[in-house]
Amino acid sequence: MTLMREDQNYVLNLYKRIPLEIARGEGMYLYDREGNRYLDFYSGIAVNTLGHGHPAIADAIREQMDAFLHLSNYFTTSAQVSLAKKLVENSFASKVYFANSGAEANEAMLKLARKYGQGFHGEKTRFVSVDRGFHGRTMGSMSVTGNGKYKDQFGKSLQDVVHIPLNDVDALREAVDENTCGIIFEIIQGEGGLRQVTEEFIAAIREEARKHHALILVDEVQTGLMRTGNLFSHEAYGLTPDAMTLAKGLGGGLPIGAMLVHESVEDVLKPGDHGSTFGGNPVACAAGNAMLSVLLEEGFKEELKEKSGYLLEGLEMLMDRHPLVIREIRGEGLMLGLVVGAHAERVKERALEHHLLLNVTGNEVVRLLPALILSREEIDLFIETMDDVLSGI
Ligand SMILES: Cc1ncc(COP(=O)(O)O)c(C=O)c1O
Repeated sequence: MTLMREDQNYVLNLYKRIPLEIARGEGMYLYDREGNRYLDFYSGIAVNTLGHGHPAIADAIREQMDAFLHLSNYFTTSAQVSLAKKLVENSFASKVYFANSGAEANEAMLKLARKYGQGFHGEKTRFVSVDRGFHGRTMGSMSVTGNGKYKDQFGKSLQDVVHIPLNDVDALREAVDENTCGIIFEIIQGEGGLRQVTEEFIAAIREEARKHHALILVDEVQTGLMRTGNLFSHEAYGLTPDAMTLAKGLGGGLPIGAMLVHESVEDVLKPGDHGSTFGGNPVACAAGNAMLSVLLEEGFKEELKEKSGYLLEGLEMLMDRHPLVIREIRGEGLMLGLVVGAHAERVKERALEHHLLLNVTGNEVVRLLPALILSREEIDLFIETMDDVLSGI
């Protein structure tokens, strides 16, 4: 494994690498240098929404590349405008700001809420966020992240963040007051073990936010773009956020992030208040346009619903067959978690031995984030392989 060795020699050691040298990807599969095939249930941690090597994405990238790669945000580009238009036409939002990642999109959203708060009074700077929530690794996004693992060793975080337990309505009512500028949360916690927000919690957020003029800030970096069955996961709750962030799958595999804002706050940030050199890069936007066009094709959502139902049936069958390993199934659509407690790492290792790639989150949850293009045959292969994997635990 020369590449692995070179990686250790030259790349800062921040990631627990999987001991594989991938040569290429196609659809739901990755292939190593020896030509071994692996079923990919990572999909780049919810990035490769249409799997590997989707022709529409490749064509869009090629076409944009032939025109120009980058112009800077002093110029408008058709790729950026048409991605923004698609997002606006299919969401609650009236305007889009483009960044390069989820953390950066969240930084923009925090700044939006801070500036909005300053329009009321100087002390309106507080964020309310949720235990185990994850919003990114920059100082701001890390500060609203609710898991000490990601931040405790970096000293003092951003002041003025209150963390409350997920779905604790009383704690929410206690925490939100006239000094709160924003309430930030995920609909399903991606890094926090696939825990899902309740209807009651959302209703209380809506009430408290309106009462105290705090913005509702929904982080859909992981849950967005049809991952949970709707284009955006908050839609299932009938919620209208003030702002929402996207990233991960938005660039069809290329880095991009976005903050979508409601009309009522579209004028809060003025020219020069925020920005980014690369944000909304034309090639990433072109790839995003191609990806989003596929998601919005007629019948895609219905087919996805049917497939995720089929996958869930398979998982329920696995839970019946392996009740001592799988304790609970969490999540929605194709963002699913198997709660396996202390077995999580072992399940992941055995899956790799069986050429199935899956990931662990929140220490005890096996996370399933397959590309949305997965077929019934691939679901069957996944369930059969998992059955073998779990039989050895
Ligand atoms: C919900 C959520 N928000 C924000 C982020 C950070 O995104 P990025 O790694 O692109 O900065 C992530 C990444 O996993 C995420 O899951």
